[in-house]
Amino acid sequence: MRRKLIIANLKMYLSTTKSILLAKKIRDTEKSHDVILAPSFTALYSVGPIVAGAGMSLSAQNMYSQDYGAYTGEISASDLKELGCKYVILGHSERRKYFKETDENVNNKIKQALKYNLTPIICVGENLRERRSGNAFKTIEGQLKTALKDISKKESLIVAYEPIWAIGTGHPEDPKDANGIHGMIKKHFLNNNDKVVYGGSVNASNYNDFLKQTNIDGLLVGGASTKIDEFSKIIN
Ligand code: PGA
Repeated sequence: MRRKLIIANLKMYLSTTKSILLAKKIRDTEKSHDVILAPSFTALYSVGPIVAGAGMSLSAQNMYSQDYGAYTGEISASDLKELGCKYVILGHSERRKYFKETDENVNNKIKQALKYNLTPIICVGENLRERRSGNAFKTIEGQLKTALKDISKKESLIVAYEPIWAIGTGHPEDPKDANGIHGMIKKHFLNNNDKVVYGGSVNASNYNDFLKQTNIDGLLVGGASTKIDEFSKIIN
């Protein structure tokens, strides 16, 4: 199997101390795939050097769309860069749900990330109602049309397809269906070097069913990435 991309989205699950411990364990695990760690903001400074020394990459889970300025509580792209991030997750469905982020916000953030040479990991996905009514791809198409507005095809991007109903529920998408959607995203929105990864209830028992699919370039793993036993199976 070709080398794929495994992204650990630690969300707000772990304290800084626990993130450091986990990063060290992941560093010491044999890997057959490229691994990106996305700890919380407060852990980036300490986890960065652990990741860098082990051939892994660092990602943030979010950022703001403006340069330094009077934006209390926000985080700038240049700060992420300074901390060693190569990637930034944007538009995660939890950001959309709890913080009312829109596709326009995501579009502005993608532009800002690219300005600072951060590769955006752009999250898209349909909810259960959209899925049941056969509108999954229509939803994703709408999200990507706006999110990628005025962004050059030459830019290097990662799209994470995460059906909302599959995130943290223990009910992943059928791998073959996911493969179909990944293919459509690639065909309509991306160039050959871009990647599409799957996310939503990936664990040590089902990861391989996704990695086997031809259009799936990797995985965005939430809950299972915080458990070293599960995560080492996935990356090994
Ligand atoms: P999950 O989360 O693996 O816990 O379903 C995935 C994600 O939200 O990135």
